[in-house]
Amino acid sequence: MKRGNTTVIIGAQWGDEGKGKIVDVLSHNFSIVARYAGGHNAGHTVIIQGKKFVLQLVPCGVLRSGCRSVIGNGVVLDPLALLKEVKMLRDAGVHVDGNLFVSNRAHVILPYHRMIEMGAENAPGRVKIGTTSRGIGPAYEDKMGRRGLRVADLLDSSLLKSTVENACREKNMIAHALFNSEPLDADSMYAEYARAAEEIAPFVTDTALLLNQALAEGESVMFEGAQATMLDIDHGTYPFVTSSSCTAGGAVTGTGVPPNAIQTVIGVTKAYCTRVGGGPFPSEVEGTIADQLRARGNEYGAVTGRSRRCGWIDLPLLRYSQMINGVNWWVVTKLDVLDVLDEVPVCVGYRINGKKYDSIPALAIGFDRVECVYEKMPGWKTSTEGVTSFEQLPKKAQEYLRFIERESGAKVGMVSTGPDRDQTVLLPEFAAGFRAVTENAAPQKGARTK
Ligand code: GDP
Ligand code: IMO
Ligand code: MG
Repeated sequence: MKRGNTTVIIGAQWGDEGKGKIVDVLSHNFSIVARYAGGHNAGHTVIIQGKKFVLQLVPCGVLRSGCRSVIGNGVVLDPLALLKEVKMLRDAGVHVDGNLFVSNRAHVILPYHRMIEMGAENAPGRVKIGTTSRGIGPAYEDKMGRRGLRVADLLDSSLLKSTVENACREKNMIAHALFNSEPLDADSMYAEYARAAEEIAPFVTDTALLLNQALAEGESVMFEGAQATMLDIDHGTYPFVTSSSCTAGGAVTGTGVPPNAIQTVIGVTKAYCTRVGGGPFPSEVEGTIADQLRARGNEYGAVTGRSRRCGWIDLPLLRYSQMINGVNWWVVTKLDVLDVLDEVPVCVGYRINGKKYDSIPALAIGFDRVECVYEKMPGWKTSTEGVTSFEQLPKKAQEYLRFIERESGAKVGMVSTGPDRDQTVLLPEFAAGFRAVTENAAPQKGARTK
């Protein structure tokens, strides 16, 4: 039997591109949506008929009837955060039980990960990354250091007890010596996480097996990227990155499907650019124009509420993202945010110490010296909010999108003109491959339709 279709959705910039909305719009084409990296540092917003969901760990496919959700082995899982999210979904009438599957190989975030992160972020002499304080980095450190606790181990109470006791002893000493942190109590931690383990157990399975079996039976799978290319541990603006492989390659290692099973990669980019936290951002703007982008785009963290830094679309960065991820299609989001501008600057190249560069530098320090070369596109000064066909977009907005696609190595397949599910443009060639369901269907309740 023919293997089922697969598509990876990745963020092309520094996160918050609108991946959640796009996953939701396209999820109708897929039997399963799987998260493969990161943890509850993500905040993915979906708005259906004005009802807003912010998902951190559970894939956005959970909101679509007939779509199963997988949290893959590449994710770092905070059990308490998962249970909180599951409760929120249950309370909203979303079908989670029997529909959500958590990898037995995912690593677990424990309170000492947050303790170490807080200490390190605030320690004198350390580079402050501006993390989300969720314990993500230290949990991945323990995974790579081969001393982490996996979900399968969480469910084994004697293993949980010994790991928590040993880790607390070690981490308390380190955190006290380095950061003067208050020690954590192993007994109460064990009790709390043993209780959480019982509640999580029904969701836990070998998700690599589940995904590969589903693909072999011809079912289609979408991989929901979290974070973004420039936050990737290898390809991003190191050290101002997250600690996982958020690029398309992570979909393979983070779920256990083979590389030759990946068919399509969709890159999500804003029509401009934002970043939250520290680190280089060559096309950043400040002052009134940044305030205007922030206000129109509501550029505040979906979970942390932190104000996002704003700037213009950066084509060298998009070209790099296209190359690293093998992007087949771009989805350009938040076009409507630019509706009021007289002109829209686009970063078309970089200059470092007077020399022109087409690619992005490896060093954060190199980034600091980057001067953007801008080309100014005329603004369209007409509302695009809620437009659903390319022809209905103002000519100048169409030209802006065509310019991006000519300069960035992949075609624009979709444009988002507002946060709601139905405020979406599908270009015909893209639509031929993906049936977008943008009708105002209510979020899923009850039975699976598969
Ligand atoms: P994600 O992390 O990539 O899923 O993105 P976030 O949910 O963190 O941030 C994207 C924000 O933009 C959310 O508040 C969305 O509701 C909103 N959004 C998504 N697409 C559009 C759009 O086309 N126009 C506008 N104005 N807002 C959008
Ligand atoms: P979504 O999936 C935007 C940023 C943090 C910080 C850096 C490291 O919603 O796009 P971490 O807590 O991961 O160790 O923080 O990465 N960051 C994000 N920025 N969107 C995200 O996720 C992010 N996840 C992490 O702000 O700069
Ligand atoms: Mg987000």
